[in-house]
Parts: sequence; C-alpha cells; structure tokens
Amino acid sequence: MRKIAPSILSAYPLNLEDQISRIEKETEILHIDIMDGHFVPNLTFGPHFIKALKKRFDSLLLDVHLMVYRPETIMEWYLEAGADWVSFHIEANPHHHRYLMKIKESGAKAGLALNPTTSLCLLEPALPYVDFVLLLTVNPGFGGQKFIPEGLEKISRLKEMREKGGYDFLIEVDGGIKSSNIKEIFSAGTDIAVAGSAVFHGDPLKNLLELKEAAL
Ligand code: DX5
Ligand code: ZN
Repeated sequence: MRKIAPSILSAYPLNLEDQISRIEKETEILHIDIMDGHFVPNLTFGPHFIKALKKRFDSLLLDVHLMVYRPETIMEWYLEAGADWVSFHIEANPHHHRYLMKIKESGAKAGLALNPTTSLCLLEPALPYVDFVLLLTVNPGFGGQKFIPEGLEKISRLKEMREKGGYDFLIEVDGGIKSSNIKEIFSAGTDIAVAGSAVFHGDPLKNLLELKEAAL
C-alpha cells in the first residue's frame, strides 16, 4: 500500500475547513496530532474538535496520533468522538497490550508510535496485536522539521520483522516527508506517509498531487 495521510498540524487554523475540503477528494486519511504540553512541547486538538471533523468530513478516516503521557486517561474521549485509528507512544504507557485491546474493542484500528531513537526491540512483543506501527522520523511536537535519515533503515527493519513474523500490520511514517524524499521512504517499506507542511504550506491540493507524483 502507498498512501499519503495529510497532517493538519501544519494547516492554518483559521482556514482548516477550507484547506481540508480542498483535498477531501484526493485523500482517504487525515492525520491529527494530539499533544499534551508534557510528552511533547506543544498543545493541540481536543475531542470536541475530532467530533466536529468527523461530522463535516465523514468520508475521511481520522488517524489520531496521541503524543501524550498517560494516553489511557484520554483515549476513550477520542474514540467516542469518532477517531478511526488511534496510536499512542510506546514510551508513554507501559501497558501496551491492555490499551491496544481497548482501542480494538471500540472498533478502531490500534497503533503503537515510536520516537526516532526508540528501539524496534521494544516493539517486537507487541507486533501480534498492532494494526499499524507509526515510526516518527522527527522529534515529535512540531511540523516542518527535517527527516532524520536513520529512519529509512528502521522502516526496512520493521518491514523485515513483519515478513519474518507473518504479520499484516501497516507501517506509517511521520515527520519530514517531502516530495524530495517520499519515493525512498515508500521504497523502504512505508505503507502510509504522513505529510504536514509539505501539504498545507501553500496550495494543499497542488502540493498533495505533487507528492503523489513524486511517490511514483
Ligand atoms: C510531528 C507530528 C507530525 C507532523 C509532521 O510532531 O507527529 O504529524 O505534523 O509534519 P511535517 O510533515 O511538516 O514534518
Ligand atoms: Zn503525527
């Protein structure tokens, strides 16, 4: 699979509805970063916002990336608000199995996210239970940062782990993805490439079509 998930973190907040509607027909997934000001040095969207997004853009899958400590205290709010995919950080809660199951029981897809220097070894025991893995290729918290190049090898290694184990989880990659590197990021084994500033800085539709072209 090769899909692009636009990340609305980089959209201009007062034009969000307009900017998302520009790309509505060209994407299936919207990536939404939830930040708590503790796990990452920034604050973003609450469940009320997800509910409004779901109502307005009901054909889009809402991919909610929880960059928060104690994600178990808030994940239910986002599930109830209409999140279709929910990922939490492996570094932010030690009870991975418990909360992956909780997300799945609600009917959503469950993912574990890893910061750039978190080892894949920590992820391995959870692989039978994840629907997707979200590999961060920048230090999370802000859009517009540079792709950390070691991410490429990590994507390939995760793909190998998936093949060896006979798993079918998806590999999603988040941070620093541009038209200049998207092709190699997909070639390394990425199924879903998150792109924030590369889509929303400028004309979102033109940018998304350019990214798709560059990914071929
Ligand atoms: C990083 C976020 C990303 C961010 C990516 O904290 O998790 O989803 O929006 O932005 P770009 O594509 O600009 O690196
Ligand atoms: Zn993200």
